[in-house]
Amino acid sequence: MQAPQHEWWRGAVIYQVYPRSFQDSDGDGIGDLRGIISRLDYLNDGDPDAPSSRSLGVDAIWLSPIFPSPMRDFGYDVSDYCDIDPTFGTLQDFDALLAAAHERGIRVLIDFVLNHTSDQHPWFQASRSSRSDPRRDWYIWRAPAPDGGPPDAMQAVFGGSAWQLDPATGEYYLHSFLPEQPDLNWQNAGVVAAMTSALRFWLRRGVDGVRLDAVPKLVKHLAVADDGVVDASRSLAGTGRVDPAVLDHLQPIRAVLDEFPGAVALAEAFAPPQELARLYGDDRRPGVHLAFDFQFIRVTSKTPLAPWDARHIAEALEASAEHLPAGALASYAFSNHDVPRFGSRHDHDGRGAARVRAAVLLQLALRGVPCIYYGDELGLVDAAVPESARLDAAGRDAVRTPMPWDDSSGRGFTSGTPWLPAPEAGTSAAVQRDDPRSTFSLYRDALRIRRAQPSLRRGLQHLVGARDGVLVVQRAAEDAPAVVVAVNTSTEVRVVDVPSEARRILLTSDPDITLDISGEASRLVLPPLAACWLA
Ligand code: GLC
Repeated sequence: MQAPQHEWWRGAVIYQVYPRSFQDSDGDGIGDLRGIISRLDYLNDGDPDAPSSRSLGVDAIWLSPIFPSPMRDFGYDVSDYCDIDPTFGTLQDFDALLAAAHERGIRVLIDFVLNHTSDQHPWFQASRSSRSDPRRDWYIWRAPAPDGGPPDAMQAVFGGSAWQLDPATGEYYLHSFLPEQPDLNWQNAGVVAAMTSALRFWLRRGVDGVRLDAVPKLVKHLAVADDGVVDASRSLAGTGRVDPAVLDHLQPIRAVLDEFPGAVALAEAFAPPQELARLYGDDRRPGVHLAFDFQFIRVTSKTPLAPWDARHIAEALEASAEHLPAGALASYAFSNHDVPRFGSRHDHDGRGAARVRAAVLLQLALRGVPCIYYGDELGLVDAAVPESARLDAAGRDAVRTPMPWDDSSGRGFTSGTPWLPAPEAGTSAAVQRDDPRSTFSLYRDALRIRRAQPSLRRGLQHLVGARDGVLVVQRAAEDAPAVVVAVNTSTEVRVVDVPSEARRILLTSDPDITLDISGEASRLVLPPLAACWLA
């Protein structure tokens, strides 16, 4: 069955653009919207299946925030929800980007930061101006504890107390992230109205959807209630939890999205599948269309990084199959702007590059919507950023460095001085696009095969096995040949039997893989850390 047109995101592949680091067009060393326009053909030239095309072939891009911002959290501190930060360009540039993307069949998702604004946002400026200001209740204010300290022990995600004293009015405000990112009060109808109207502003302009930032944070677990009564048991501090009440907050957002057929909501939540499931809601009260499943990164923001291991991957897939509502899809990210890049996370023995190649074949074969972080397709690893060049308060600079388009001094990213040091020469897109054995070519081939194989785009998923470090998963759509993905996460050669329908190799991460179909079962020989697709 084909997905209905308005559910274009089923079977799609999303690419995350970090706008500051993708392409600079004006020489200030910071990426911008005109720069992104100039690189769209790299992502999808409108005909990526043409023999002459060298385009990656993704279906959609998600842009990290581009709104006016003091950039304390590089755009995740928004000071105006209905404009573009001058660093990135203008609303006209944004319209031009949308038009150019749509011409090529690329959908555009923007990042919608719901939980907090910048402390420079006029709403917060008003709110902090006096206890009786009409916007006071748009944020979360509490009296100091009897000793004058913070109202409760709640911690911010980036460390320290989640409360900041505002001396002018003598109360504390809540900030789940930086002190410069005060939390909005989603219990306040004015906040809901203002945010939904901002959402409508972008959907009317033609955006195809939103990534919803930090969704579980919308429900507060404060030990101190509105009336000042303190009850520590209330402060379960939400790590990895998704409170069912989040679905209430998602209702008005979903209602606006439903006014625009095809508009999709993709939620960000660091939580295990049984918690993520709540974000989707049910038929009566649908929530988001998609949510990130970070089990291949880390399950919650506090748990250790996920291992590259067949057993772990199998358990993750089983958890997702067990808990997600029927028909719901997760979006699988293997890297993003908040965590070390995949190739660095799995490089303890210097073999990260092989794992990256295997991960391409896993990520693009899973039932769900893959989200590729810019530079993943080049196998980028965390850049060395000297202490003196570090800018991010939460230490994430190394994963946000400029895209290396070529090996020139500005890496083709800028004619000026890049805002963060550019990656070392040798991994650039220009070099990799001409090399059929490069990671870029592997991604491109995988995306091309994915488009041609209905089973990969919309097939059901069956876990065939996970033994001795080898994961075997089958995808099968009713009306199409099944595709098998086999991933050897061990550092030994492995020989495995695979379902007998698998008669030929479609794609491999390693040239030394062999398939023997002379016997009853198909027998696959997988070199260390190698992966392949079979049909
Ligand atoms: C999300 C973003 C992260 C940001 C935080 C606060 O987790 O991905 O980059 O710092 O929210 O907005």
